[in-house]
Parts: sequence; structure tokens; C-alpha cells
Amino acid sequence: MSAIKKITIGMLGCGTVGAEVARLLLSDIPELSTRSSAPLELKKIAVRSGGSRIGIDASLFTTDPLSIVNDPAIDIVIEVMGGIEPARELILQAISNGKSVVTANKSLLATHGADLYAAADKAGVDLYYEAAVAGAIPIIRPMRESLAGDYITRIMGIVNGTTNFILTKMHEQGLAFNEALAQAQELGYAEADPTADIEGFDAAAKAAILAGLAFHTRVTVDEVYREGITKISAEDVALAKSMDHVIKLLVIGELTPEDEISVRVHPVMLPSSHPLASVRDAYNAVYLEAESAGQLMFYGRGAGGGPTASAVLGDVVAVARHIADDSIGHRESDYADREIAPFSAARTKLMIRLQVADKPGVLATIAQAFAAQGVSIQTVRQGGAGNDAELVVVTHAASEKALGELVKDLSALEIVRKVESVIRVEGASS
Ligand code: HSE
Repeated sequence: MSAIKKITIGMLGCGTVGAEVARLLLSDIPELSTRSSAPLELKKIAVRSGGSRIGIDASLFTTDPLSIVNDPAIDIVIEVMGGIEPARELILQAISNGKSVVTANKSLLATHGADLYAAADKAGVDLYYEAAVAGAIPIIRPMRESLAGDYITRIMGIVNGTTNFILTKMHEQGLAFNEALAQAQELGYAEADPTADIEGFDAAAKAAILAGLAFHTRVTVDEVYREGITKISAEDVALAKSMDHVIKLLVIGELTPEDEISVRVHPVMLPSSHPLASVRDAYNAVYLEAESAGQLMFYGRGAGGGPTASAVLGDVVAVARHIADDSIGHRESDYADREIAPFSAARTKLMIRLQVADKPGVLATIAQAFAAQGVSIQTVRQGGAGNDAELVVVTHAASEKALGELVKDLSALEIVRKVESVIRVEGASS
């Protein structure tokens, strides 16, 4: 191995994930070098301030990230600082200096992925990002490589551990949303400001990346329809449970009959028999349907230092192998260049929970509102006591446009006291 060129690595960022990547890289360097067919060396780590992390030699730290992206001796830059800037500028600078990049930065890829790919293509270097979606779960490489001979028609995923933890606690312990969120914060799953997770922004960035790969098209996060889980109540969860369903925050990407891409993030009711329904706590899973492969599911830990470091280091070894072989990995596959369908064109099913007056003719009036929008009713269930009744209506599939109009029409009816909740239903017959 002595005749082979050493491959030198620099890191941008050393938070929970970065520190784990650095520790594993330092402790496993002989093994990882053997797997890469070239000696690896971690040369520098850029941090914002302070340079001490347990198990990492303090002499590796610098507060000057440019000293990494402009260092001619560095071959691979690992970006685990997160955020758009300065990560974007630093990565572009590293690429233009001929360095391959391994990043875990989903927001950056979902916003500026096209620019990064174009720059990597021009410079003839690798851009790898297995850790950007679903942490430890190998999903990017299976989609880019293993499924390159197939046609993915649909992708559904639980790709945010915080919201899956919250929904699991609501389902299994009957907690209210705020109680479950407080538990997630106590356990360190949710940030002090949990907006990115609970409002679906984190999942939307991952949805853009997954849909882009699945359908060979550039998809950006602003093209993803997004709703979070803050409106889900304990009553909704109990109702779903009584119907043998669970509520999950899903990313969904699918091809429409017009061969456009529908891509969205929102809570859904899933039958408990669906493979994604059994994904509990902070675990992630991605479920794919492909023309020849059929149904596939990938499951594992979607966050945390160790799981995310595993994905980063897998990319480092892959990229190091390419450098050792004087080869290069895959370019962006965006040849299909499909349109993104407006959300109003998506076909979904709804569960609508209504408080209505309990008197003759009410059901007929409600049914008339459905008929007027051309929405077919699949099931109706009535409960409640006194002068009011609770109606739970599940529709057949219809366009989001018609379903949205229907909910507006129902809210405006005099006999409807309140539309309590509206949740989409997936994974059952249409
Ligand atoms: N905050 C994310 C989650 C992990 O809860 O899954 C990072 O993407």
C-alpha cells in the first residue's frame, strides 16, 4: 500500500454527527484505509469556536474553514456543519478546487442541489450524501445504483424521527400533542425550537431529495406540499386507533397518470396492516414501489451521531475508492425532467370528522354536499349524544381541489357545528 497515494480528509463542522465521524475515522483508520485501498488521513476539522472534543486531538481543529477547502493536500471534504450558508459557498469552493464532497446537508441539497451537482460534474469530482436522508438507512445508494434498472412509481417514507416519536406516544399512551412533544424534548429528540420537525420542513427537504432520485428529475423543497402534525389531536389518534389505523407523518412521492410528480408531506391515517404502520418511536423507514422489484422497505435509525456517522463514513470509503482507482461515481440523473403536479391535482382520500345537529335530514344535506363536489363516500359512522352527533366520513379518492372545496362547503352548512378534523387516508383501497 506504501506506493499508493494517501487520501487526505478535511471536515467542516464538529457537532454531534461530526464528532462521531471524526472519532470513528481516527480510531478505525487502518481498517477504513484497507477498505478504501488507500491510506486515509484526517488532517483538519473546522469549527466555529473552541477546539476540544473528547477523543479528538485538539491540534486537528481550526476556526478557518477556508484553510480546509483551499488546502491542496486535502482530497475529500466532509461537510457536517448544516444550514445553507456558509456551507454552500464552502462546498462550491472545495469542488472548484477539485475535492470530492461528502455531505449530510439535506436543506442545502433540497435547495441548491442542482448547482452543487453541476459544479461537481464540471470539476469531475464526487458529491455523496447518503446521510442527508434517513440517517443510517442506506436509501440514496440503493435508489441511485441498485434500482437504476427499474422504474420507481411511488415512494412513501417516515423520515423524521421526532414526529414519529411524538405520534407513537400519542397512539400508545393516549398523550396530547404537547405532552408528547415535551417528552421528545426531554429525551433530546426534539430541539428547543421544534418547528423544523413538527411543521414538516425537515421531512419536506428529504422528500425533495427522494422524489428527485426516484423520478430522475430535479425537485426542490419549495415544490413540496407540506403540512406538519401540530393540528393532530388525541381525539384524532384515538379515532384512528378505533378504525384500526395509525397516524403517521409521511413523505409521499408518486407519478401521476399524466406522468407528472406529486410530492408532499402531511399526516396520514394508515391501516395498521401497512408496513409503515409498525415503524415506532424515532425510527425511520422508506417504502418504495417499483415496476419490477415490487414493494421494498428500508428501516433503521434516522438520526443521532452514530447512525448518521455510519452513512457519512460509508460515503467516505466509496469516494476514497474512486480516488484510489482514478474513477468517479454517479452523476445527477435528471434526464426525465418531469413536471411537478400542483397539490390541487393530487388524488387523496379524506377522513372528515364533523359535529352536526342531530335531526332529520342532516345526513341527506351532508350527502348532498359530497355529491355536489363529485366526491364519493366510502364509509359513514355516527356517534355522539344529546342534540349533536359526531359524523366520521371517509371518502373515496378524489382530487385535492374537490376535497378542499368540499371541506369549505361543509364548514359553511348551518347544520354543521364544526369540522373537527380532516386527515388524509393512505394505503387502503381507493
Ligand atoms: N430532526 C430530524 C429527525 C433528524 O427528527 O428525524 C435530522 O434530520
